[in-house]
Amino acid sequence: MLRRVLLSPPACRDLRPLVAAVRGKAVLITGASYGIGEATARLLASCGAEVILLARSGERLEVVAAEIRGAGGQTSVYPLNLTDLEAVRAVASQIAANHPRIDAIISNAGHSIRRPVLDSTERDDLGRLLAVNFSGPAALLLALLPRMVAQGGGMIVNVSSASAMPPGIPRWAAYQGSKVGFDLWLGSVANELHGRGVRVSSVYLPLVRTRMIAPTRAYRFAPALTPLEAAQSVVYPLVQPMRRVAPWWLKGQQVATLLFPDALDRLMGGAEELVRRLTRRKR
Ligand SMILES: NC(=O)c1ccc[n+]([C@@H]2O[C@H](COP(=O)([O-])OP(=O)(O)OC[C@H]3O[C@@H](n4cnc5c(N)ncnc54)[C@H](OP(=O)(O)O)[C@@H]3O)[C@@H](O)[C@H]2O)c1
Repeated sequence: MLRRVLLSPPACRDLRPLVAAVRGKAVLITGASYGIGEATARLLASCGAEVILLARSGERLEVVAAEIRGAGGQTSVYPLNLTDLEAVRAVASQIAANHPRIDAIISNAGHSIRRPVLDSTERDDLGRLLAVNFSGPAALLLALLPRMVAQGGGMIVNVSSASAMPPGIPRWAAYQGSKVGFDLWLGSVANELHGRGVRVSSVYLPLVRTRMIAPTRAYRFAPALTPLEAAQSVVYPLVQPMRRVAPWWLKGQQVATLLFPDALDRLMGGAEELVRRLTRRKR
């Protein structure tokens, strides 16, 4: 309970308003095969939404879909690698042909890499993360947006991260850069489509215990939300339309970044230097 209060953005813990908001609505969720996307799909389906599931792992999506159907839910599955832009456009056309309308899109699929920047160039970390966290999701939205405008509007929820805000966190440059870039791109789209029925919300999640953070040893004992707790925040804007859904402490962090930018940067840089020295001494 204390963990939730300290960590979590606003969330739909009471499901009744969620049922009222999504029953009979079609909601597309990217990255629905694991983690936060899977939990969001199950939550929305249990509240009466028709959920359209996207991710690379088709077999895993079929397992999730079978369980949703078994529990009385309505769902369909579209295997898709978001980094394949031709496939993105083809799947978007298929979805448009198969579904008369899409009321909400939850742009959740993503990947993270934590690596020292000097080790990351040969592996093209930035290129790979821009493809999965920015260009792919943007291409999917661009393919589906005209339909959403034509049908009279809808909701787009971006599953972002508390780290998509300054200050820069050492070793996360590619992840942070790709998440910030997509979020700002979507913010521009939101303001351009203002008044045309398309509402956009970004949900800035703290640490969530999924396979994404499993390789990071430093996070093994760090406080984290469960995928279901995170999903309850992801769906919050479907009930309470808000441009930004963030934990309370992130606002304090933003104020601190504006008031004391150098101090925060020194803190981040100093922490990294300390970690570097300690790990060097161990070797
Ligand atoms: N976990 C955290 O601490 C945390 C914190 C803040 C924000 N987030 C954000 O939450 C979102 C979900 O992360 P998660 O923690 O649930 O991670 P996860 O368990 O690894 O799930 C990631 C999802 O994205 C899909 N995906 C990855 N690459 C893809 C690609 N190229 N094309 C299509 N789908 C792809 C994966 O499915 P396939 O592998 O089947 O394609 C999977 O369904 C991400 O956007 C992440 O940035 C996570």
